[in-house]
Amino acid sequence: ASNIPVIMVIFGGSGDLAHRKLYPSLFNLYRQGLIHDNFAVIGTARRPWTNEYLREQVNDAIHETFTEVNENDVKNFVEHFYYLSHDVTNVEHYVSLKELAQELDDRYSAQGNRLFYMAMAPRFFGTIATHINDQKLNGTGFNRIVVEKPFGRDLASAKELNEQITTSFAEEDIFRIDHYLGKEMIQNIMPLRFTNPLFKSVWDKEHIKNIQVTLAERLGVEARGGYYETSGALRDMVQNHIFQIITLLAMPEPRDISATSVHQAKQELLDSLIIPDEEMLKQHFVRGQYAGSDTTFAYRQEPNVASDSKTETYAAGEVKFTAGPLAGVPIYFRTGKEFKEKKSRIDIVFKHSSTPYGSVHSNNLTIEIDPRNRIYLRINGKNIFESGIREEKLTYALTDEEMAKIPDGYERLLHDVFVNDSTNFTHWSELERYWQFIDKVENYWEKENQDISEIIQYPPYRMGPKEANQIFESPTEHWIYG
Ligand code: BG6
Repeated sequence: ASNIPVIMVIFGGSGDLAHRKLYPSLFNLYRQGLIHDNFAVIGTARRPWTNEYLREQVNDAIHETFTEVNENDVKNFVEHFYYLSHDVTNVEHYVSLKELAQELDDRYSAQGNRLFYMAMAPRFFGTIATHINDQKLNGTGFNRIVVEKPFGRDLASAKELNEQITTSFAEEDIFRIDHYLGKEMIQNIMPLRFTNPLFKSVWDKEHIKNIQVTLAERLGVEARGGYYETSGALRDMVQNHIFQIITLLAMPEPRDISATSVHQAKQELLDSLIIPDEEMLKQHFVRGQYAGSDTTFAYRQEPNVASDSKTETYAAGEVKFTAGPLAGVPIYFRTGKEFKEKKSRIDIVFKHSSTPYGSVHSNNLTIEIDPRNRIYLRINGKNIFESGIREEKLTYALTDEEMAKIPDGYERLLHDVFVNDSTNFTHWSELERYWQFIDKVENYWEKENQDISEIIQYPPYRMGPKEANQIFESPTEHWIYG
């Protein structure tokens, strides 16, 4: 299934995402023979670049990403790239784009297949989608569109965007990208849950006490203050990545692993998502902002950030469902910038009962997503000399060599788009539920902002705000990673 003829149009061809992720990923697919010669890429942006200049950029992007490349491969690859200076708001520009796409389609025998990639500022997504339709850019073969995040900034704007996109594309042709779904250990959640009878038989509310999802970052907002001010940690990380992870952890077993069955299982779970009420929001949700130190800026001192900003750079909370194997089990999450280290992990805390040895540790199953790819299970065993019980770990870890071979998330997901596999993309109905939840939290925080003079400030490069240690439902619960 590897020769997929296609003309790919990248809106935002001069941008950072295209440079850092899309060009290198496409090249890696190309050199593995996963895309053959019947393709061309049209990079568009406002700047007056030429084909040659775009090709140089693609060439640079490849060399910045990979240490070993065959120069002949690179040369052949970059020849598939074309540049068109294009203002997405100017209707006439779509006419030239259409002509170029048609011309390249003939030259490369692309069979009328089109792939549109929205890799630019999200405020233009709707405009582009509308003009793809009214200027009839669609080809006679398949027409797919990849949409980057953020997909809206609340339910209303997400709906509006979705309506604009669905005037030009059918739901099954819309690929809403979430790069976490391209990560190795996230793709490993379903196999872990459903191929190990041992875990499968205890993956329920009788055995699991709680689940904790942590997506911590060492970095601050860096140069992205302008975007981040309109977003905050909840929209930036929870609405998409954290919710996708939680869904994979809590959904019922799908009938098979087809995209349809997986999305059906996800939807079944999400129909039972509890939208938090004020009481829950008050008790189980916390937000904060990183403060400065002698050597680092506070969030409010970052470029393009308001000096009295109340945007959260840290968010923690609780998610619960009324159905599925984990009905009623608290799932806690937290994410933040300027944590002590980069760490993405999931801790599954099992219940424990009394033992002849007195009280012992619970069996925690940890899935580490980044920076290492590993899973470990905490088990109890005897002490060698003294009496009593000690804890040990059973570890499943990828070697450095294996880790080095793992394709970048973008590469995996792009390949999925080529072969029309939407398993690891977000469907509209999922997104709708996620936004309902997020809107509720955002509204509550916005209202709260009018009464509080300050949002919690937390010291940089530690564990975030200490208030997050109090979001648990019971005093016997606490963060496992800390
Ligand atoms: C992005 C967010 O979606 O994910 C960024 O917009 C964040 O703010 C990034 O830094 C984290 O991704 P990863 O793969 O580095 O964990």
